[in-house]
Amino acid sequence: MTVQAFRGSILHYLDDPTTHPDSAREYFDDGILLLKNGKVLAVGDYQNLVERIPADAIRKDYSGKLIMPGFVDMHTHYPQTEIIAAYGKQLLDWLNNYTFPTESKFYHYDYAKTVAEIFIEELLKNGTTTAMVFTTVHPQSTHAFFDTAWEQDLRMIAGKVMMDRNAPDYLLDTPESSYEESARLIEEWHGKGRLSYAVTPRFAPTSSPMQLHYAGRLLAEYPDVYLQSHLAENKDELAWVASLFPDAHDYLNAYEQAGLLGPKSIYAHGIHLSDSACQRLAQSGSVLAHCPTSNLFLGSGLFQMSRMTDHGVRFALGTDIGGGTSFSMLRTMAEAYKVQQLQGHSLHPDNAFYHATLGGAKALSLDHCIGNFLPGKEADFIVLDPSTTPLMHFRIEHCQDITEKLFVFATLGDDRLILATYILGHLLYHKEH
Ligand code: GUN
Ligand code: ZN
Repeated sequence: MTVQAFRGSILHYLDDPTTHPDSAREYFDDGILLLKNGKVLAVGDYQNLVERIPADAIRKDYSGKLIMPGFVDMHTHYPQTEIIAAYGKQLLDWLNNYTFPTESKFYHYDYAKTVAEIFIEELLKNGTTTAMVFTTVHPQSTHAFFDTAWEQDLRMIAGKVMMDRNAPDYLLDTPESSYEESARLIEEWHGKGRLSYAVTPRFAPTSSPMQLHYAGRLLAEYPDVYLQSHLAENKDELAWVASLFPDAHDYLNAYEQAGLLGPKSIYAHGIHLSDSACQRLAQSGSVLAHCPTSNLFLGSGLFQMSRMTDHGVRFALGTDIGGGTSFSMLRTMAEAYKVQQLQGHSLHPDNAFYHATLGGAKALSLDHCIGNFLPGKEADFIVLDPSTTPLMHFRIEHCQDITEKLFVFATLGDDRLILATYILGHLLYHKEH
């Protein structure tokens, strides 16, 4: 296939700005991104690379715009697209009043497929090219999501919810049925194209100890798959877990006893954790998904980013639709900044953009194929248009450098900033004029 050459300002991260403050970011004011067969061939200054552009290359000029890797959303629920912005409740009531009734509709494949298409369209419109996604308890809902992601050759991770207690009957499976259905889904979808499977016990309160053990058995039998769940999001939830798992010495231990910790285990939230739990998360390499718009909307609490860094706990950012209030990773970065401000810390824009790109890829053990523009990586990238609104245009004119611009993009930006989203070098979304 012919080479594609994209010219514009280009930004990506090579490392974590916390540990590599001087070398983590690469920025080319007048840059060029060369692709071949949907993968990165080279990236650098236009002047340095101009001679490597073949005469027959397909050229696209995004001068004045910013090209960067697509965003990674560490935690979201596609069936909750239709209950985003539901008034008035905290976690446990919100689940009972809004989430569970809505998820019952995903018994029907056609309905699930319609929502999966809307959800993925919204991801691409917001510049998110990889996400880790909850479906519902129904295998049909998982098929609907994977079918949609497969049609567009997206790099996505998803799994069927396992849930055998403390939810309406119409949403319950059993330890055995959840094991068998998950195993069948793994066989069908894990490793197909760019899709991966995540074993998905919803959270400790809706799984019996037996079901959590079956989840552990799936991880042992399919060591390559992910695990996704929720952890220590809300104080009432913590008290409930303590009463439901008398043999566990804390919330995390309910998962630990079932063998559910490890480098491919992603837990949403992790707000109310003891030092001991942080240490065990760090030692096992488990990952937290920080979802600030959700934590603020559901009144769950403030994620302690610097404490997690000090403990060596891996984390990145998620939207948590529909407890979260925006599909935009830019909105998510803005709220992450405010959550840290309330605790006396300032989240640097380089850290925020790192977490939303290479940091997310690393947290999902996908940094060998996505997250930045090193040669050979899959070309899932986005184009940001700084003149998207009159205010953004005016504000950006008053920035001294790219660092200031990044902070403004995160603080003022949303889907309007995303001009285009490319998947493997193909244009899958372009903003209407
Ligand atoms: N804990 C268990 N299920 C959910 C969910 O759907 N959303 C959130 N935010 N927390 C949960
Ligand atoms: Zn969630």
